Amino acid sequence: MNNFFFNTILLKGSNVSNHIRKNLTLQINELKKTYNITPKLSAILVGDNPASQLYIKSKEKAFKKMDCISETHNLPINTTESNLIELIKGLNNDNSVHGILVQLPLPKSLDSKKILHSISPEKDVDGFHPMNIGYLYQGEPKYVPCTPGGIIEILDFYDIPTERCHAVIVGRSNIVGKPMYGLLAQNLRKGNATVTMCHTGTKDLSYFTKQADLLIIAAGIPEFIKGDMISEGTHIIDVGINRVNDASEKKGYKIVGDVDFFDCFDKSASITPVPGGVGPMTITMLLSNTVTSAKNSI
Ligand code: GUN
Repeated sequence: MNNFFFNTILLKGSNVSNHIRKNLTLQINELKKTYNITPKLSAILVGDNPASQLYIKSKEKAFKKMDCISETHNLPINTTESNLIELIKGLNNDNSVHGILVQLPLPKSLDSKKILHSISPEKDVDGFHPMNIGYLYQGEPKYVPCTPGGIIEILDFYDIPTERCHAVIVGRSNIVGKPMYGLLAQNLRKGNATVTMCHTGTKDLSYFTKQADLLIIAAGIPEFIKGDMISEGTHIIDVGINRVNDASEKKGYKIVGDVDFFDCFDKSASITPVPGGVGPMTITMLLSNTVTSAKNSI
């Protein structure tokens, strides 16, 4: 038990998400009333990966709830690269479609980079196209990848300082780590931090995590970060969603993050729970990017 942070703040993504969705509702109503435009997402799912199917279902549900359109193109696992690119080209040219999302991971037989590059940057609501990553790294983000974008919103909503802070990111994926670095390091809203990016090749990870004012973990390893790896007063953002066996649970498993929540809670100034932290933000940011694209289409 530490002496300073008895009131660790729980960073609940649902609070932030509700706040953003209220604002999005106003924008969606305005688009409909004034321009007769309904924001529309076209998602593409190749194969039958159960986790991907679940993600796609959640996206469809969220879009429906917000009175937006979400259509899913379910393609067989043996879909060829050229067929997929043809479909994407058609969606690029379809004026009723504002956002295109190819659910990852794609089957190994397909070249993910080539597929993602074929999405028009104007409809790239995932923010994965090199042009959108380039804009982000030049300090003029257009479509920001949803998870890092959602983290910035959480930091803003709960007034977690980043200015002149040392932010340490664990994970260098294109989906989270790399765009997160770009957002925090630049002088943008909730940026201007000094950022260290760690990864599986980092020697003595604790040396870096102990220096963090803000620690962002996207390593994909259940309960990887322990209390003795952080300093008192650290703000912790846990991006991990890991299913681990647990006989005491009715379902036989539970969902945990990349942070050992109970081990780190007392030492941290604030921490995202898993589930309920970063997770609820991702689809909200996808909605936000799709609404932005719909507005840009006017
Ligand atoms: N798979 C896991 N996360 C994501 C995401 O944010 N976008 C897409 N398209 N696929 C994913």
